[in-house]
Amino acid sequence: MIDRRKFIKSISALGLSLPALNSSLLGKPNASIKNNPVILCSRGEKWGKKVLRPGWDILRKNGSLLDAIELSANVTELDPEDTSVGYGGLPNMNGVVQLDASIMNGSDHNCGSVACIEGIKTPSSVARLVMERTDHIHLVGKGAQDFALMHGFKIENLLTENTRKIWVKWRENLSDKDDYLPPLNSNDSGKRTTGTINVLGLNNDGDIAGITTTSGLAWKIPGRIGDSPIIGAGLYVDNEVGAVGATGRGEEMIRSCGSFLGVELMRNGKSPQEACEEVCKRIVDINGGPSKVNFNDKIVALGKNGEVGCASIREKKGQNPEIATWSKKGFKVTKGTYLIEI
Ligand code: GLY
Repeated sequence: MIDRRKFIKSISALGLSLPALNSSLLGKPNASIKNNPVILCSRGEKWGKKVLRPGWDILRKNGSLLDAIELSANVTELDPEDTSVGYGGLPNMNGVVQLDASIMNGSDHNCGSVACIEGIKTPSSVARLVMERTDHIHLVGKGAQDFALMHGFKIENLLTENTRKIWVKWRENLSDKDDYLPPLNSNDSGKRTTGTINVLGLNNDGDIAGITTTSGLAWKIPGRIGDSPIIGAGLYVDNEVGAVGATGRGEEMIRSCGSFLGVELMRNGKSPQEACEEVCKRIVDINGGPSKVNFNDKIVALGKNGEVGCASIREKKGQNPEIATWSKKGFKVTKGTYLIEI
């Protein structure tokens, strides 16, 4: 048992007041506004409408929140044009596509995720089954694939002709000390990307849920797991507060517990926009300041009251990060803020 007087004394020594501690431990949830459904994704105009349409179609009819976010996430997962998520995602260094995804339900804090899953086009659907049909949270690699097969998913080749060619160019350009000759079209070095998509939803009853899904860092070391399947890193949802998701360099989201941090900042009174900006600042700080940062992360947030936020660490001048939302007011693209101009 902790002696309360000693506990309070040690708190004072740390320079914290009891009210501050109380609010951070117990939380001050934002007021919930019912009948204010909204679905959000971490993409702008180009993908936003396509991704959100099936989810909004479910939410506006007061259908299942989890079905809504899953169907929206499936849009990018199944689209070979998107080279950062699902089918057609860029592969690891060996040319194998390994996918990560997570889902979290705010009303019961239930969650599920898969990591390094191969051959399955819709990892977010498998993550949902891990959440709903097992007593576990995280399945990885062959185990995740076997679990998907058990539930009727089919193993397919996730490498498209487009991503195979991009990978071959990268491989041929990698070194002048190996036996591969330079690519025939040497202008294209096979750009290294992280993509990812977050889909966050709030239903009529004020319940919140989210999904993050990705093919991860292109050319990663086989077995590398990013932030997307790690609860608290690439996604966190708390029904009392809101949801936060992230895209970009996953390692930074993991070591900052970035999505959990964003939700806790909102719990302590920050708006979704302020929380996203604060997470970006924290990541820059733990890296030693702006001059030490040569990567990007983008944070998106949805508050319990339907308010949204979006911020990224570094962008070219004027290229503010974007999110798309669909609510009773219609489809909307909102520009966020960034910390560092490049
Ligand atoms: N944020 C995606 C990844 O790093 O894998």
